Amino acid sequence: MLTDFHCHCLPQMDDGSQSVEMSLQMLQKLRLQNVGKVIATPHYYPYKEDVASFLKRREVSHKSLSERMISSKLPEIELGAEVHLSRGLSKENLSGLCTESGTILLELPFRSFKTWMMEEIENITYQFSVTPIIAHIERYLPLYQKEDFQRLLSFEEAVWQINNSAFLHLKSRSFVRKLIRQGHRVVLGSDAHNLSDRAPDFDQVEKYLKKYPLAH
Ligand SMILES: [Fe+2]
Repeated sequence: MLTDFHCHCLPQMDDGSQSVEMSLQMLQKLRLQNVGKVIATPHYYPYKEDVASFLKRREVSHKSLSERMISSKLPEIELGAEVHLSRGLSKENLSGLCTESGTILLELPFRSFKTWMMEEIENITYQFSVTPIIAHIERYLPLYQKEDFQRLLSFEEAVWQINNSAFLHLKSRSFVRKLIRQGHRVVLGSDAHNLSDRAPDFDQVEKYLKKYPLAH
């Protein structure tokens, strides 16, 4: 069974699922796509909200969903967050945003690479003794220089999350292949937000999942 490391399936948390009903349907879809575990990763923007109020909202959202998860054929949910990386973030108490299995999903800003980003990732890793999972790393291909990727990838504690859709484009697919060949730990995420234009999509990439040795 697969794990979805990046999914906006908690109801009414962000621009992902808008209702418990939609969340249940997303989870059903994931189960049919052979996903046994989903890390629920609603957006956390440090400039919009403090960690405590985010965690309170997440608890309410998760409770409303778990009350309706009566079918044993749904994937197991582990609570997480997609934490937007900002300068000074490592000074906040981020422990509640780490998963029980000791990971944190970090979303890099959608702009050119800056040294402080690497420093924040390293500080978070050591401060919270956590494994940083860098969200949809293929999305930064048009923004980062070769040296930027070299600097990032040299941090061996990190795990690289790619969106399933990365397999569907030649350039990002060869990037994924290179990551795996170089021995980096690569995990998958649907980054699903809904049931239409950003629906669970493990079924779209089935043939690549068999071919590529990905971490679980
Ligand atoms: Fe996301």
